[in-house]
Amino acid sequence: MTFSGTHLTAMDAPLLGVNIDHVATVRNARGGRFPDPVAAAQLAVEGGADIITFHLREDRRHIRDDDVVRLKACIAVPLNFEAAITDEMLDIIERTAPEHVCLVPERRQEVTTEGGLDVLGQFGRVKDACDRLAQAGSRVSLFIGADPAQIEAAAKAGAPCIELHTGPLAHAWWDNDPVALQNELSRLQAGLQLGRSLGLRTHAGHGLALTQPGDAGLAGQTSSAALVAALPEVAELHIGHALIGHAVFVGLRQAIADFKSEAIRARRSAP
Ligand code: PXP
Repeated sequence: MTFSGTHLTAMDAPLLGVNIDHVATVRNARGGRFPDPVAAAQLAVEGGADIITFHLREDRRHIRDDDVVRLKACIAVPLNFEAAITDEMLDIIERTAPEHVCLVPERRQEVTTEGGLDVLGQFGRVKDACDRLAQAGSRVSLFIGADPAQIEAAAKAGAPCIELHTGPLAHAWWDNDPVALQNELSRLQAGLQLGRSLGLRTHAGHGLALTQPGDAGLAGQTSSAALVAALPEVAELHIGHALIGHAVFVGLRQAIADFKSEAIRARRSAP
């Protein structure tokens, strides 16, 4: 299965939001300070990230409060603060004053954000959060599925942006299921177009990946990141897990060379 994407120039490509949560996950696995997600965010900016995204979860499983303070102090590009709608998070967002906020659903047991926010089912709560964060000066986005009723509710709630959940499309891509993939792509594009027609700025993200050269099942396929980036309605792409995973593959050779040369230097200079 091949998809012919629109040929984008750097001028009209979507902005890239880089989610650094997974650097913090690796750090937290050992409980120390390395690798520092804030240093990774600085590197991401040097590499061309347009936005730095992080999700401060209730259980602080990856990014922590002091990371947020340090990110705010030293990152020059806009910060995109993902959070659940809780009093605690709204207070922290107000204190931090990030340029962007993305409101997401959060369930304690989930591995990552599952499904989109139910704007319709908790309209008053979502609208109050949108109003409060707009007052605080942050641009609010709602992370929702490509469902017309939710998109219309998001517009009514007063959010200027929506981020459509690309998880179902990403699953179809990983499963190498061309029918499901085409359906999800069409559903996503219809949702983006509806959002645009309602005056919303439209973003997309979750589960998007590059095709890894060693992945025989997907060799030669257009990447899920490219399929979504090619949609002209996508103003921002938000990517985390597969981008940090890709960094392992593009960085591992250099990391080994660095450790080997350190060992050789140490042995040579040993008395
Ligand atoms: N957008 C939102 C709202 C998310 O919650 C996440 C995951 O934290 C992403 C994008 C990025 O998803 P992934 O890590 O699968 O690329």
